[in-house]
Amino acid sequence: MAQTAEAATGMDALRERIEQRLADSLPRDGEPRLVEAMRYALTGGGKRLRPLLVYHAGQLAGAPLERLDHAAVAVEMIHAYSLVHDDLPAMDDDELRRGHPTCHIAFDEATAILAGDALQTLAFQHLAAMPHPSPARLLQMIRTLGTAAGAAGMAGGQAMDLALTGQDCDLNTLERLHRLKTGALIEAALQLGLLSAESPPDTVGAALDTVGQNLGLAFQIQDDVLDVTSDTHTLGKAQGADAARNQPTFASLMGIDAATKRYQSQYDEALEQLAEFGKSADGLRKLILQIRDRKN
Ligand code: IPE
Ligand code: IPE
Ligand code: MG
Ligand code: MG
Ligand code: MG
Repeated sequence: MAQTAEAATGMDALRERIEQRLADSLPRDGEPRLVEAMRYALTGGGKRLRPLLVYHAGQLAGAPLERLDHAAVAVEMIHAYSLVHDDLPAMDDDELRRGHPTCHIAFDEATAILAGDALQTLAFQHLAAMPHPSPARLLQMIRTLGTAAGAAGMAGGQAMDLALTGQDCDLNTLERLHRLKTGALIEAALQLGLLSAESPPDTVGAALDTVGQNLGLAFQIQDDVLDVTSDTHTLGKAQGADAARNQPTFASLMGIDAATKRYQSQYDEALEQLAEFGKSADGLRKLILQIRDRKN
């Protein structure tokens, strides 16, 4: 019988598992400097929250672990690529990421751009190599990830972000931006976990939709708050970078206290959605609590 995520005991085992899968997922050949930059961006730390969301949503939906591996790797590759490009001089122009020099500092700008490109396409190769989903289901997953990463998702949100930097912006616009640049991929992580199951229950699908919407927005509001309240060492990226760039954030628009209340209530809302699933949602619940209480 196929192993389920439930059988891989707890968060630590899943964290180890995803680290191994990511390390094994890089190209075996190809231009060495490019592959090195891909490795640098993909395996140099990171909380791995999106892969863990894939695994725990999959666990709730009854998905086999070996399918979830492919979805988890794919989502983290898209995320890693988004960070490499986000840090580029043409975007946020950041020099520190996950406690290390950003990819374009450690290598060079052109290599960082290409490493991001290649991680993005590799994500879809890994998703497409998932063992034995029906062809229709696989296409649905590819569409889900493509939509979340593209103009109607992360890339679109990043474009809005660039357009609004240094501009006045109202809360509704900022909320839309956050839901796109960060929320879309977090929602997709949960969806891919769900879709990796043979016949995911409708009740789980409906709950994960709402969990994803709340979690996705909460995550970026909290990132905005941490940029003000944390420190560079803890964050592993430059503290105060948003204010230095005159970036509209929930912290700048609402103030720290109101922004903190806002994200906490969104996490609470996400947790409430899981109440009806009892113990089978313990993994996902615990992960959401870890995300809510994170310091970086
Ligand atoms: C950072 O994401 C970028 C945002 C979308 C806010 P994470 O905080 O998940 O970054 P890593 O992967 O742990 O470095
Ligand atoms: C990034 O938002 C969202 C992405 C799509 C990468 P930020 O620019 O706030 O992320 P950090 O703070 O650099 O990690
Ligand atoms: Mg940015
Ligand atoms: Mg940034
Ligand atoms: Mg940020």
